[in-house]
Amino acid sequence: MAIAKRKFDSLVIGAGGGGLRAALQLSRAEATVAVVSKVFPTRSHTVAAQGGMNAALANVLPDNWHWHMYDTVKGSDYLGDQDAIEYMCRAASHCVIELEHSGVPFSRLDNGKIYQRPFGGQSQNFGGDQAARTCAAADRTGHAILHALYQQNIRAKTHFFDEYFAVDLLKDDEGYVLGALVLDIETGEPLIIEAKTTLLATGGVGQLFRTNTNARINTGDGMAMALRAGIPVQDMEFFQFHPTGIAGKGMLITEGVRGEGGYLINKDGERFMERYAPHARDLASRDIVSRAIAIEVREGRGCGPRGDHVLLKLDHLGADVIHKRLPGIRETAITFVHVDPVDTPIPVFPTAHYTMGGIPTNRFGQVVAPLGQLVEEPVPGLYAAGECACVSVHGANRLGGNSLLDIIVFGRAAGNHIIGYLQENHYHRPLHADSVDRGMQRLARWDQQGDGESVDNLRMELQREMENHCGVFRTAEVLQDGVVKIKAIEQRLQHARIKDHSKIFNTARIEAMELENMVDLALATVISAQARQESRGAHSRVDFPERDDVHWMKHTLFFKEGYKLDYKPVRTKPLSVDSFPPQKRVY
Ligand code: FUM
Repeated sequence: MAIAKRKFDSLVIGAGGGGLRAALQLSRAEATVAVVSKVFPTRSHTVAAQGGMNAALANVLPDNWHWHMYDTVKGSDYLGDQDAIEYMCRAASHCVIELEHSGVPFSRLDNGKIYQRPFGGQSQNFGGDQAARTCAAADRTGHAILHALYQQNIRAKTHFFDEYFAVDLLKDDEGYVLGALVLDIETGEPLIIEAKTTLLATGGVGQLFRTNTNARINTGDGMAMALRAGIPVQDMEFFQFHPTGIAGKGMLITEGVRGEGGYLINKDGERFMERYAPHARDLASRDIVSRAIAIEVREGRGCGPRGDHVLLKLDHLGADVIHKRLPGIRETAITFVHVDPVDTPIPVFPTAHYTMGGIPTNRFGQVVAPLGQLVEEPVPGLYAAGECACVSVHGANRLGGNSLLDIIVFGRAAGNHIIGYLQENHYHRPLHADSVDRGMQRLARWDQQGDGESVDNLRMELQREMENHCGVFRTAEVLQDGVVKIKAIEQRLQHARIKDHSKIFNTARIEAMELENMVDLALATVISAQARQESRGAHSRVDFPERDDVHWMKHTLFFKEGYKLDYKPVRTKPLSVDSFPPQKRVY
């Protein structure tokens, strides 16, 4: 069968903030750019980011990029790469101002400057008083950024393939990535998009867990494409649980609530964070607050008839602050738990939120991998940015407000590097017919009905197993059980059946391929977690409660083939300043 083909200079897979920021850089440089997105671009998950984007603008309190860098290295539990962290923190203010000039309607202070709120893990003067570094558009910052970037891309004539699903990368024998095989979701027709460069910007894989803050589309498609192309994923054991998801349901209640002065209480009305983080209290970093909540519940101080959550109190902030600064979370609380936070606390519990790991990249967005060699090198033509990438600025624990920053800084950096690559690579390399075979076989599998269980049920089972076996607290036994169960799901998926996709568009086949992606990443997560015998950041091993810098100050690499693990050193040397050496992490 002849497959339709389109050619562009650059292909961007994913239309969240990272993808759109890169695409904008490229379109403005007059490259021809295709953005493929499985949803309409402004429905990408960036739209859900609430609290804001960190930059040391010093609009509210004294601040500078070096303090921001210190907080980020400490927040990462010293696993973040300090060259990339320095680059990000230095670039932050410029990137926020660029966004403002692109039309992002940031909230304002009375003096007209961009509003900034305190967020967790932020300090002045290398661990001193609380900083206020998070630039916010009320509690809908991601929404404001995504819409502005989409509009600017339309203006710059970026070409959008809306509601197309990326099936697999296309490579040649020399390892160059030459584009991707994609599927028009509505018609079910495959399409080859040839490109001199391909950027993966497909977001995280929060759908691995039953209770999560993520959009249903966050199934790790780009990371799984990289795995199938022989590229490892890095540091997948570090999955962030956001402290304040709506209890039992998972929707995000922004850390901005605590930044505005809200706080957590247990069933005795005690402000318990004072015991866990005497200085920062409710604005300690997320791993610490999430563990504190889980301990309160486990030790019988949880709220409600089942004692299974704590309460987030913000009624003392007053209706004006809530209406002006937190309108979105008020709406969410009223809709999903029928409480109005103006007068009633919100029931909350930690919820899966953010994938710290991902496709290994350098700070130019180039994917770097040890492909058949001893040392890692850039994979020619392949880039990644945003949550699907691991650059690694978040290490073992991301600070709130650094995720919007990451996607904008490294989306832009990748765009700039690609412009240089295009200047040196004028022509498309030849694409051989067999390059699409693997992708077409994937599609063909889901054209046939298996005789096994339903894909939907397997997806729910996977989410339950991940929640039960790879949650906030982990042990060797529980992780080992998880590995066995997820490998069994991997086997069962080979015989699974899908709904009749002839009736409603083509979504059943897409969901089956999403589940294949999720299973690969579940295995990466649980196997990497089983191997890491220490507690660091979000990875908390009850059987290895201490951080072990002697043996584990290194990044994990997981390869799909043979479920193999390898390790590489943390880049502790920044670009221009002294390193921040590992220290005991107290807040
Ligand atoms: O709590 C929040 O608003 C989430 C922000 C983030 O994950 O950076």
